[in-house]
Amino acid sequence: NENTLKKFYIGSIDQGTTSTRFIIFDGVGQPVAQHQIEFAQHYPHSGWHEHDPKEILSSVEQCIENATQLFIDQGHHISDIKAVGITNQRETTMVWDTNTGEPLHNAIAWPDTRTKELVRELKEKEGAEKLHDICGLPLSTYPSSVKLIWLLRHVDAVKQAYDEGRLSFGTMDTWLLYHFNGGKKNDLHVTDATNASRTMFMNLHNLEYDDRLFDFFGLERAKLNLPKIVPSSCPTSFGALTYGPLKGIKIAGCLGDQSAALVGQQGFKIGSAKNTYGTGCFLLYNVGEQPVISKHGLLATIAYHFGGKRKPVYALEGSIAVAGSGVKFLMNNLGFITHSHKISDLAASVEDNGGCVFVTAFSGLFAPYWIDDAKGTIFGITQYTERGHIARATLEATCFQTKAILDAMELDSGHKLAELAVDGGMSNSNLCMQTQANIIGIPVDRPAMRETTALGAAIAAGFAVDIWKEFDELKEINQKDRMVFEPSMSKEESAKMFKKWGRAVQMCRGWLD
Ligand code: G3P
Repeated sequence: NENTLKKFYIGSIDQGTTSTRFIIFDGVGQPVAQHQIEFAQHYPHSGWHEHDPKEILSSVEQCIENATQLFIDQGHHISDIKAVGITNQRETTMVWDTNTGEPLHNAIAWPDTRTKELVRELKEKEGAEKLHDICGLPLSTYPSSVKLIWLLRHVDAVKQAYDEGRLSFGTMDTWLLYHFNGGKKNDLHVTDATNASRTMFMNLHNLEYDDRLFDFFGLERAKLNLPKIVPSSCPTSFGALTYGPLKGIKIAGCLGDQSAALVGQQGFKIGSAKNTYGTGCFLLYNVGEQPVISKHGLLATIAYHFGGKRKPVYALEGSIAVAGSGVKFLMNNLGFITHSHKISDLAASVEDNGGCVFVTAFSGLFAPYWIDDAKGTIFGITQYTERGHIARATLEATCFQTKAILDAMELDSGHKLAELAVDGGMSNSNLCMQTQANIIGIPVDRPAMRETTALGAAIAAGFAVDIWKEFDELKEINQKDRMVFEPSMSKEESAKMFKKWGRAVQMCRGWLD
């Protein structure tokens, strides 16, 4: 019952693209203590994007320490924390020396486009057209595979480690799990199926590494220390924290952040969907126990796999590379605002976009367009243009891409979505969510507690330690005080705006480097 559940707690590490959080939830899904840290983004060249793996690790350690202290200060007991879950930015690629545990390079972050030429080369290769059916992903700069090949081609220390059979590869979940389990001492090298489905090395149909994929990328599997693929919810596979204030507590859940958000929004039924406006924006649509390979520019991915008698559940995904990072660009690079949340006020300072369209193609354009040579472009600037218009156009860019993704999803699935559940930083903006509803013409439904990504990892961990046994037991969680944005723009008007966007997308192709 609710009172007993309130006494159980689950910790959740949410390691995102620009910040790390640790949140302690109670058994009814409410956060009771949390801490968040932003860490450095490294852009060594145009299109490159890296993270320092050690800085990320220490940001997680710091968040755990501070949030746990708050938890204790509130009079709670660490012994009531039953498990910890991890959720993380996906695709970001890590390499380290198996013998020493030391990173061999900075992590290459998922939006990085240094592999553009490499991707063009690979697209010409025989067998390229078969990859999508095997792993669900189109060949692009986005997955881990091309990032790993770039490292092997350009970083001597990585190549040498590979040749000598001591190259450990992993995504952020693997790196964190390795360290929290004592690094070299225990050598835990695992990943969950949702994260593995973003590498382009996993067969989406059987959840195992596929030699055809390694062959295509010219990789010798025997020379790589690859993480073992396991279900996302498990009491044993992910080990335990071996140091820090939560030492000894089991890590029992692990999910890529977009999968975690789907779980946190309780998108357990076929046809349910969520859109998370984080650094990027990702729409996941639950398609059930069989993968649907998209014919319209979407990704097929593992939604979640809770293991045991439960089969893996698949999703169709629309990935947008730039959402919150567009707002950060206005703040950090152009000095338009002093804090991200002020974007809404700036956008509200004008009535409309004043004729501006901003194609925020900082990493090319992802779904459903996949234009890797597009660059960020603002159209329609005149002497009339103010910062507010550009702020609006920045928010609208994500809303338009969401509309393009929903159109593609309708074609792939044969169903029209009735309502879109949303979360993530940019969803805090009422103006942005109203714009979203206007552009897609269906209601947008926002929960009161927007830390659904962290909640999803907590749910995966909670299932593994039997706090919950059936999805039905979660149905009260985060249902109160949801806010629904109803479309309030005429169909003609929104169609006109979307048409203009489509033209802008075509015009920002083929920028010469
Ligand atoms: O695929 C990248 C995604 O996992 C990053 O999520 O929330 O950090 O933008 P986010």
